[in-house]
Amino acid sequence: MLLTLILLQGFSHTLAANHGSHWTYKGPHGQVHWSDDHLDCGGQAQSPIDIQTKSVRHNPALPPIEPQGYRSPGDGAFTLLNNGHTVEVSLPPSMFLRGLPQTYVAVQLHFHWGSRGQAGGSEHQVNGETFPAELHIVHYNSESYANVSEAKQRVDGLAVLGILIEVGNVANPAYDNILDRLKNIQHAGQKISIPPFDIHELLPGQLGHYFRYNGSLTTPPCSQNVLWTVFHQRARISASQLERLQGGLYSTEVANSLPVPLVDNYRAPQLLNQRVVFSSFPVGPSAYSAGEIVAIVFGTLFGCLSIFLTIHFVVKRIRPRINLFPLRQGRDSSKANGS
Ligand SMILES: *[C@@H]1O[C@H](CO)[C@@H](O)[C@H](O)[C@H]1NC(C)=O
Ligand SMILES: *[C@@H]1O[C@H](CO)[C@@H](O)[C@H](O)[C@H]1NC(C)=O
Repeated sequence: MLLTLILLQGFSHTLAANHGSHWTYKGPHGQVHWSDDHLDCGGQAQSPIDIQTKSVRHNPALPPIEPQGYRSPGDGAFTLLNNGHTVEVSLPPSMFLRGLPQTYVAVQLHFHWGSRGQAGGSEHQVNGETFPAELHIVHYNSESYANVSEAKQRVDGLAVLGILIEVGNVANPAYDNILDRLKNIQHAGQKISIPPFDIHELLPGQLGHYFRYNGSLTTPPCSQNVLWTVFHQRARISASQLERLQGGLYSTEVANSLPVPLVDNYRAPQLLNQRVVFSSFPVGPSAYSAGEIVAIVFGTLFGCLSIFLTIHFVVKRIRPRINLFPLRQGRDSSKANGS
């Protein structure tokens, strides 16, 4: 009995010791428990958020993002890694960003996605709308800090580009540089070298229109040191490309006899609290979805038609009374005034 107790204690101690590094999106180590081990995850400036365009503040002084060195990122191979939480591509320091308050150098990119046949996958939302996936390109402030390990500890240390990904009719060849190779890193901890490719092609065309706010990493330790840029325009991949992302990886290591699919690796939107989301562009009528615009146009047309018909019939009913004495002159004058 005593031995069992001691064994149990030892076991729970081991669990507790492992706890910090072991996190998931659902279950006993899921996102609602992250703040037990990582205080920042319960902070007031967390990411992602649901961007409510009616509350966004337009700042015309925000310049377009200018990625430098994205098109030909050197000769060195990239590392493609399944880290058990996502697929990550290492990026060279020859890639950096202009258009932010300071210079930020690229570190890595990774994805968040959902699962087959289910809505959701992106971390950021726009007016409550989710997207099938999201790409994050992580940079650190190289103007103030020597390396990413140091920058990670500082409030102005990181800048992330968020690209919402939607599904279109055609494949996006830039994304195949990653998606074609997932079969070689199916299990957690596996990594391969891949040839460098044009990272700019992963971005949407319009880099001048974006949302900007102060937030955090979207995974533990959830450090609140990220200057976020979420592009308004989405990137597009095909349905079969999305399925390869959703069905290609496991969150478990190769030795594990019960492989767990790596899906639904997105965090729920966090409270905005006192923060302001800025936009580099006037978020006007585009705040309405296509469906809402159709509804508004038809609603207005129908309203006008109803008013017209009402007036038409009222006038028709009143006219005979006016014309009780059907004098020629009356008719003529009504014709003359008439429309
Ligand atoms: C990062 O920079 C700090 C400060 O200069 C230094 O102490 C540390 O060794 C560097 N770490 C790495 C991983 O290069
Ligand atoms: C982010 O926080 C810093 C420091 O408080 C502030 O100067 C900056 O204006 C904030 N940026 C945004 C986009 O809110």
